Amino acid sequence: MIRFENVKKTYDDGFEALKMINLEIKEGELTVLIGPSGCGKSTLMKHINRLNNPTSGKIYIRDKDISSIDPVELRRSIGYVIQNVGLFPHMNIAKNVAVVPKLLKWDKEVTTSKVDELLSMVNLDPDVYRNRYPSELSGGQQQRIGVIRALAADPDVILLDEPFSALDPISREQLQDELIRLQQELKKTIVFVTHDMDEAIKIADTIVLMKAGEVVQTGSPEHILRHPANEFVTSFIGKKHLTNDTLDPGMIVDDVMSVNPVTASPERGMAAAIQFMERHRVDSLIIVGKKRELLGYVSIFNVLQGYRHEDSRLADIMKPFVHVVESGSSVALALTLMNEHGLPYVPVVRDGQLVGLVTRGSVVRHMAEMYNPDDMSLEELTAEAEKLKEEAPLEPAEADQEGGGRT
Ligand SMILES: Nc1ncnc2c1ncn2[C@@H]1O[C@H](COP(=O)(O)OP(=O)(O)OP(=O)(O)O)[C@@H](O)[C@H]1O
Ligand SMILES: [Mg+2]
Repeated sequence: MIRFENVKKTYDDGFEALKMINLEIKEGELTVLIGPSGCGKSTLMKHINRLNNPTSGKIYIRDKDISSIDPVELRRSIGYVIQNVGLFPHMNIAKNVAVVPKLLKWDKEVTTSKVDELLSMVNLDPDVYRNRYPSELSGGQQQRIGVIRALAADPDVILLDEPFSALDPISREQLQDELIRLQQELKKTIVFVTHDMDEAIKIADTIVLMKAGEVVQTGSPEHILRHPANEFVTSFIGKKHLTNDTLDPGMIVDDVMSVNPVTASPERGMAAAIQFMERHRVDSLIIVGKKRELLGYVSIFNVLQGYRHEDSRLADIMKPFVHVVESGSSVALALTLMNEHGLPYVPVVRDGQLVGLVTRGSVVRHMAEMYNPDDMSLEELTAEAEKLKEEAPLEPAEADQEGGGRT
């Protein structure tokens, strides 16, 4: 829908605000530009409606090079909320909202009913508000007016530059919810600038993360949370978001499993098994065939029972697994199985072969790594472990029972 090709912007004083931007903004999506103050978000956005023009490179809207479109005309076809709202103080609300329809010479009645419709849409009673002046509105109400003004002429493209920045957290949440609802109905192409990662994660289809005039990473909130491109992105996302992500119900067993469970061949004898358990500090062994196909398990109690017969093999005493999970299953599924059936661990298989083991310990270890233990205090780590326990309570003896997993 909107395409930046090799766009550079150097301001008159020589400052390079955009360095080689290549970016595709998709039709009908809500794209959020985010990054530290001064990184070029507003500059980039203003290139879309030609309030800024590139020093070099091209911008296309629906494959049309916008340098060939008259800027005034272009601006009428694009809704825009500038940073800090920018309502006209001498015009009442109805007139403010109707600025672009008026420029487009819409019929008066059509305009009036459109204004009323938009006011209702953001929960402002038209009878109460249409004749008020901006100074007679709260900050949140003014920002609502800013947003509906951008929508008034029904443009396909809407640019919102930190439209909710001046709001208290509650009004902000409300407006975010309203925007999400509006967007589900209207399916506009919206470019939204914010500083706030929570906001971006909540509303974005696609996040474009910028730093010092460059795009650092582009992707869905989920993708950026799971696969931050570099340190900068990680620090920008912040630990809090890693938390949300780690507890995400979409997390799969492959992310958390121990990949080197202690295994033994079914041909081994009892004495060997005991020595093996001793050496690896486990109380059970996973029995796999030559191609790592999962055959069963043997616990220390089975071994003690089989010990009397000198030529017993693990194959004679092993038990089959009743519960296994496929690679790619959710961690939630594994934890539920462990919890409901009191299992110390669940094997993870792919095509019948053992690929890993989910133990409660492995889940906790994974969480701890995700949390970047270097800057996490022991208290924080413990708190997280507690949280996990609430989801899948550990039995008191769990640590001792963690058979098969490495300790
Ligand atoms: N007209 C101008 N002349 C020179 N430099 C400018 C001009 N406008 C912006 N800049 C500089 O370009 C850089 C990017 O500005 P921009 O307004 O795009 O940042 P931003 O990412 O929107 O920041 P914020 O989050 O604070 O709004 C800044 O360093 C700014 O000082
Ligand atoms: Mg800005």
